[in-house]
Amino acid sequence: MNPFVFQSPTKVVFGEHVAATAYEVVKDLGGTKPLVITDKFLIENNLIASILEGLKDGGCEEVVIYSDVPADSDVDCVNKAHRYAKQHSCDSIIAVGGGSVMDTAKATNICLALGGDLLDYQGLNNIENPLAPMVAIPTTAGTGSEVSYVAMIKDNTDHRKLVFGSRYLAPDVALLDPIMIVSLPPKLTAATGLDALTHALEALVATITNSPVSDALAIESARLIFNYLPRATKNGDDVEARSQTLVASTMAAIAFSNSGVGIVHALAHATGARFKTHHGITNAVYLPHGMRFNLEYSKAIYGRAARALGFSNSLDDNEASEALIKAVELLLVEVGLPSNLKALGVPEMDGKELDEWCALVIEDPAIMFNPREATNEDIIGIYKRAY
Ligand SMILES: NC(=O)c1ccc[n+]([C@@H]2O[C@H](COP(=O)([O-])OP(=O)(O)OC[C@H]3O[C@@H](n4cnc5c(N)ncnc54)[C@H](O)[C@@H]3O)[C@@H](O)[C@H]2O)c1
Ligand SMILES: [Fe+2]
Repeated sequence: MNPFVFQSPTKVVFGEHVAATAYEVVKDLGGTKPLVITDKFLIENNLIASILEGLKDGGCEEVVIYSDVPADSDVDCVNKAHRYAKQHSCDSIIAVGGGSVMDTAKATNICLALGGDLLDYQGLNNIENPLAPMVAIPTTAGTGSEVSYVAMIKDNTDHRKLVFGSRYLAPDVALLDPIMIVSLPPKLTAATGLDALTHALEALVATITNSPVSDALAIESARLIFNYLPRATKNGDDVEARSQTLVASTMAAIAFSNSGVGIVHALAHATGARFKTHHGITNAVYLPHGMRFNLEYSKAIYGRAARALGFSNSLDDNEASEALIKAVELLLVEVGLPSNLKALGVPEMDGKELDEWCALVIEDPAIMFNPREATNEDIIGIYKRAY
C-alpha cells in the first residue's frame, strides 16, 4: 500500500435541532461574543430563529449578526464582515448558511484572527496559525464547507474565484441539523446534492493523497446521494432523506479535503465566476464529461466504485466505469437538472473569450490534483461536448 496522510480536525455533531446548541458550543471553544454570519434570505424567513434563541438563553449579552452575504461571496463582503466584527469586538464565529455564507465566515475569520489583507493569504497553505473559534451550521447539503479546508471567494475585479486552502480553515465544530435544510427548494436541493456527488467522485481519483480511508468515505457518500437525493428533491420535508444527504455531503468534503478535487471543479469555478451559474449545477453538467476525460487514468477505482454501488457486476473496469457515468447522467435527469451548458444559460464562447476562460480553468488550483493533465485543447473539447 502507498503511504498516505489522513486528517479531519472538525468535530462533527449530527442530530435534529442540534443547531440550537451553537452558543454553548462556541463557549466551550473559548468564545464569548460570536459574530453570527448568515444571509438575508435565512434571516427574513426566520430560519435561524433557534440559533438566536440559543444565544439569548445562553446569556449572550449582545447578539451580533452580519447577513449581507451574496451568493458566491466576494472579497468586498469579507472585508465588510471583518470591519463589522471588529466594531463589535467579536472573538468567535457562528456561520449559518450554505457554502457562500460558510466560506465568507472562514475568510472573515482569517482577517479577524491574523489581521492584514485577505489577499495575502490566498492560495494553498498560506495560513500558518490557528484562527478564532468557529462553529459551522450548513443549511444546504452540498459544499461540505463545514468540514473542508477551503474557502472560495470571488475577486470582483477580474471575475475569478480565489482559493484559500489550509487545515486551519476547517471549522472547529460542524453542527449537522437536518431541520435546517428542509426549506431548501427542489432545484437547490438537487444542485447542492450534485456538488457533494462531484466532491465524492473527484476525491476518488484526485492525487493529493490516495487512501482507503478517503475512498471509503467517498464511496459511502456517493451511495447515500444516489439513494436519497431523489427523495430529498421530491419531498423536502422528508427528514430522513435530508439527514442522509447532509451526512453524505460532510463525508464527501472530508474525503476531498484529504484527496483533492479535479477538472470538474476547475471548469465549474471558471464558468461560475464568468457567468454566475450556481456551483452545484455547473458541476453537475460537467461531471459526466470530466469522468469520461479521466477514464483511462481512473477506471480501476471508478470500476470498483461502480461494483460497490451496485451499478455493474462487470470485472471489466471500462464497462463498469461507463455504468457509473451512466448512473450519474440518469441521476441528473431524475432530479431535474440540466445536462448541458446551453440549458444552464451559458453563452456560446469562441475566439478570445474562449481562450481567456480556458486560461482561468488551467490556472484554477483544483486542476492540479486531476489525475490526467489537461491542455487548452482538452479543456475546449470538454466545453464543446458539454455545451
Ligand atoms: N469551501 C468549500 O469546501 C466549498 C466547496 C464547494 C463549494 N463551495 C462554494 O460554496 C458556494 C455555493 O454554496 P451553496 O451551493 O451552498 O449555495 P449558497 O450558499 O450560494 O446558497 C444558495 C441559495 O440558497 C439559499 N439557501 C441556503 N440555505 C437555504 C435553506 N435551508 N432554505 C432555503 N434557501 C436556502 C441561500 O439564501 C442562497 O440564496 C460557492 O461559492 C462555491 O464555490 C465551497
Ligand atoms: Fe464543490
